[in-house]
Amino acid sequence: MKHITPVLNPESARAEYIHGKNGEYFHDWRLKFSHYSPSYVLTNEDIRWVSDLTKNNGPRVLTVAASGDHPMFYAMRGATDIDTFDISFCAKVAMDIKTAAIKKLSRDQYIQLLNNMHSAKDMSQIPYITELMSDIPQNSAYFIQQMNDYPIFSNGLNPSSYQEIIPTNAEYDQMRNVVQKPFKFIWTDIKSLHTRLLHEYDIINLSNIFEYMSPQQIHQTLASLRNHTRPGGIIIAQTGNWGIHRNNRAYYDASQKFKRWARVGYIAKDKTKANSEMIAILQRTR
Ligand SMILES: C[S@@+](CC[C@H](N)C(=O)[O-])C[C@H]1O[C@@H](n2cnc3c(N)ncnc32)[C@H](O)[C@@H]1O
Repeated sequence: MKHITPVLNPESARAEYIHGKNGEYFHDWRLKFSHYSPSYVLTNEDIRWVSDLTKNNGPRVLTVAASGDHPMFYAMRGATDIDTFDISFCAKVAMDIKTAAIKKLSRDQYIQLLNNMHSAKDMSQIPYITELMSDIPQNSAYFIQQMNDYPIFSNGLNPSSYQEIIPTNAEYDQMRNVVQKPFKFIWTDIKSLHTRLLHEYDIINLSNIFEYMSPQQIHQTLASLRNHTRPGGIIIAQTGNWGIHRNNRAYYDASQKFKRWARVGYIAKDKTKANSEMIAILQRTR
C-alpha cells in the first residue's frame, strides 16, 4: 500500500470547514477526524493515571498528540525521548502553543488560554497568541495566521468541564521544568504510522483512536507497530470508559492473534465499577 505524507496546505484546511449562516465557520462533522479537524485543548482522558501506570517502562515514548497533554504527562513521568503523531495538523498546533505557553504564562493565564482557544471564533479571541507566536515553530505559526477565522481548537468540551484534569500548581511547575522544547510530531493516519517510524519505543500510546476503527483495522495497526516496540515494550491499545466496551471483541480477538508475540492485559481504573475507565495493554514478549 502506498502511503502519502500530507503537505501543509491552508486552502485544503479551509475547505474542511463550512461557512455557517451567521458568518462563522465550523468543521464539517462528516469528515470526523481528518487532516485539519479541530484539536482538543485539554484531554478528556485520565492521562495522569495511564502515564503513571507505565512510568518505569523506559524513556522512549510514542503517543498520540491529541491535546498535547499526553506527551506533557509522559515527560513528567520521566520520559526523555517523546515522539507524537496525529491525523490532524491542528493537534500539533495546539501542542506547540501549550508547550510555548507553559514557559511564559502563569497557570491562571494558561487556563485562560485553553478556555479562549476552545471557544474562539477567530484568533483575535485568543489574546495570548500574539505573545506566544515567536516561540512557536514556524509551520504552526504560519498555519495560525492562515486560519485566522477558523475554530481550529474547538473539539471536545470546554476545559471548565474537566476541572479535575487541569494540571495542578505542582504539576504545572513540573511541566515547566521538564518540557524544554516542542515535541517531535509525525503527521499521519494511524494506519500508516509504522511507515514513518525510525525507532523502537518503550511505550506506544494509541489511546482514544480505535473506537472509530473496525476490528480488522485495529488488528492490522497493532501488528504493524510490533516491530517498533522493543521486546518488553508496551502498546496501550485503548482507553476511555465506553470505547473499550464497544470494541472489546476486537481486543479479545487480538489477544488470540497476538499470543505469539505479546501478552495482552486489561486494567480497570476502578474495579468496583462495571463501566470503569479501562485500558488494554499489549506487552511484546518477543
Ligand atoms: C478521539 S481524540 C480524543 C481526544 C483525546 N482523548 C485527548 O486526549 O485530547 C484522539 C486524537 O486522535 C486523533 N485521531 C483520530 N483518529 C486518528 C487516526 N486515524 N490516526 C491518527 N490520529 C487520529 C484525533 O485527531 C485526536 O487528536
